[in-house]
Amino acid sequence: MNIIITGGAGFIGSSLIKQLLDTTKHLVLNIDKVTYASNPLTIEPFKAHPRYFFKQVCISNHEAIHSIITEFKPDVIFHLAAESHVDRSIDSPDIFLKTNISGTFNLLDSALKFWDEDESNKDNKRFIHVSTDEVFGSLKADEEAFRESSPYSPNSPYAASKAASDHLVRAWFKTYKLPAIITNCSNNYGPFQHPEKLIPHTILNAIKGSAIPLYGNGLQRRDWLHVNDHANALIAVMKHGATGESYNIGANNELSNLDLVTRICTALDSAFLTNSKPANLHSFADLITHVQDRPGHDVRYSMNPTKINNSLNWHAKTSLDKGIETTISWYLNNSKWLEYFLEKNYKSERLGNY
Ligand code: NAD
Ligand code: TYD
Repeated sequence: MNIIITGGAGFIGSSLIKQLLDTTKHLVLNIDKVTYASNPLTIEPFKAHPRYFFKQVCISNHEAIHSIITEFKPDVIFHLAAESHVDRSIDSPDIFLKTNISGTFNLLDSALKFWDEDESNKDNKRFIHVSTDEVFGSLKADEEAFRESSPYSPNSPYAASKAASDHLVRAWFKTYKLPAIITNCSNNYGPFQHPEKLIPHTILNAIKGSAIPLYGNGLQRRDWLHVNDHANALIAVMKHGATGESYNIGANNELSNLDLVTRICTALDSAFLTNSKPANLHSFADLITHVQDRPGHDVRYSMNPTKINNSLNWHAKTSLDKGIETTISWYLNNSKWLEYFLEKNYKSERLGNY
């Protein structure tokens, strides 16, 4: 089969490409604009692979996307390209609307035209749109975890743009019979995540001996999923998912930001010898600093993955403890990868402080 992945130079897309190349015989074409969020070192190892192809193109470029799709003739399109950071969406919402909404429309339009004209059976094709739990809004402490039927109630510009793109995908299935599936997953973590996101940000600041910023009281809760489990779930959806359906993907790892950051600091304490910590630091947890809250900050996300567990027999395999341990060790051993961002475009600055 021929598979297109958009956003394959990013955190989740690169994990998906690796798993597809390692575990299947399919051809994989990565379409990525290579924005500030991607790191050339992430995709470097794929370049020599005979089944990997790369186009540096913006998903909103109608002509380029149309011609890539017509030439490559995809059976499956995984759509992951997006602006993905809530804090940046607070600072500069316009690019989120362009990429996440107009870019998704452009892909839907090109995929539909190609599959409508293609002589092979449209029923065997798949457009898999990768979305987020954030479209469902914020849960109260006593509310049940999000299900596929939960109402959409996005609160940030990022979540609103992803919700809009989900609605477009749904409409293209209902109206034009585009063979689409939507996946909504919880917060991902693991290697190759941009250091602006909570877990790498915490690790990076800790090893620099800088303050670890926790927004507000730090009691906001997130539900964490290892990126390799997510990629594995997406492949299960490609193989067995039903068109017109959506699947919630999660690993039942809900905890507060404060608990999570404290666990990372404890793991870092064991990873470092006492004398290699910054001077006067008893524990990395001493660096945790409460800072002004994010505007519109969602208090709680929690995913109910029962549908994908039961109907596709998919289950997350990575425990949070093991996942955090291996993620910390990856960041400690990949300083060159981190330095690319630090030198190029990221100064660990506070974002989204409207
Ligand atoms: P990321 O920011 O690490 O990567 C996004 C990739 O998309 C980058 O390589 C970037 O260059 C590319 N891109 C951005 N704009 C583009 C454009 N106009 N044209 C082509 N490429 C473009 O993001 P991620 O964390 O890997 O997220 C991937 C997808 O998963 C996104 O759609 C995101 O909404 C969704 N998602 C992420 C999480 C998470 O916790 N990271 C959780 C749920 C859903
Ligand atoms: P983030 O990784 O940005 O993901 P999202 O906002 O999409 O859930 O943030 C995860 C949580 O961590 C979120 O509640 C905001 C909080 N946070 C901090 O407390 N400090 C930080 O420096 C960052 C980046 C996030």
